[in-house]
Amino acid sequence: MKKIQIADGIHMLTMNVEDILFEGIWEIANGVTLNSYIVQGEKTAIIDGVIGWDGVPETLYKNMEEIGVAPGSIDYLIVNHMEPDHSGWISNFRKIRDDFTIICTDKAAKMVSSFYGEDKIRVVKEGDTLDLGKGKVLSFHPVPNVHWPDTMYTHEKDTKTLFSCDMFGSFGRMGEHCFDDELTPEEKDFFEFEGIRYYSNVMATFTSSVKKAIEKAKSLEIKTIAPGHGPVYRRNPGKIMDDYSRFARYAEGAGKNEVAILWGSMYGMTAKAVEYAEGILQREGIKYNKLEMPLESESEMVAAVLKSAGVIIAAPTYEYKLFPPVAAALNELGRKRITGKAAFRFGSYGWSGGAEKELYEIMERNKMNWDLIESVEFEGAPGAEDLKKVEAGVLELIKKMRERVVL
Ligand code: FEO
Repeated sequence: MKKIQIADGIHMLTMNVEDILFEGIWEIANGVTLNSYIVQGEKTAIIDGVIGWDGVPETLYKNMEEIGVAPGSIDYLIVNHMEPDHSGWISNFRKIRDDFTIICTDKAAKMVSSFYGEDKIRVVKEGDTLDLGKGKVLSFHPVPNVHWPDTMYTHEKDTKTLFSCDMFGSFGRMGEHCFDDELTPEEKDFFEFEGIRYYSNVMATFTSSVKKAIEKAKSLEIKTIAPGHGPVYRRNPGKIMDDYSRFARYAEGAGKNEVAILWGSMYGMTAKAVEYAEGILQREGIKYNKLEMPLESESEMVAAVLKSAGVIIAAPTYEYKLFPPVAAALNELGRKRITGKAAFRFGSYGWSGGAEKELYEIMERNKMNWDLIESVEFEGAPGAEDLKKVEAGVLELIKKMRERVVL
């Protein structure tokens, strides 16, 4: 766990967590940080206290002591949201001090009580404040459904710091550099992608709430954004707000000038057409990512599709329906409410077709509203005429992408 002073009277305690499935689902290849913040006035508050995934809060207590904060001196636990990555240590803390107060929204209070049996809770609403003394005044600003319903921002008036909880967060382990102004160009690229991955895995379903939360952040005076995961933004907090606006647009059909090839092949027939389509993309200078299902991780797949302005769906018919791993991926994208993408499908069939029908059922059921170019289906291996049609489809996709590109 690292300890860093981020402003006068405010410390961040941060640790990298690896080899876990985030939310029990997402394979995060590059880890994630868990950030906790301590604000000291005459009274002391901890915001989003974190523990390791091993569930040992002693690491947190030890690190508090190392920055001169006795765990027993904590008066307030600010629970910006109740998800256990931020709150799993609360019951244990009760053994150290019994008279602290938990501060959270009404929705979080219900869960703090049902998850941990806690009842010493002060419920806060929009604009409520907590004066810690020595000029440190916290105010609370609910931002429901990003991603849990109970989420709120905490804002510190003196230093103009926004503790944004999961908003403006990112996956990715942090090295020595924890602030935006310290990141090297490579680290910036790393957190750009890990931010997109985090957004696609955790936030995309809630894009409409995210947009409202961005507006709320803009209404507050902010010098520093201190999220629950990822770097702290002190040189240019507006940048991560703009990035989140861009990610929200990606979820609604925009994207980088890239194609995600979401594909699967039973015996290599559809794969031949994928190879051909790759040649067209290379010729046209379009970057692409290949996502072979079911081998690709869901985390990577959802992220790559979210950030791409165009999607190629390459999948055969299997038992009268769409090749199941690709169908499952599309259903996941639908559940994540990734809408409005320009897409083109092709694929092989043997006994009969059927993939196409299921593709449209998935789009319809999930209200995905993807702009689908007419599919190309071929019996067995793709012939010369089929490949010509694939080429025409890819070129049509590139054309449709142009109006959607947001860098
Ligand atoms: Fe940081 Fe909602 O988990």
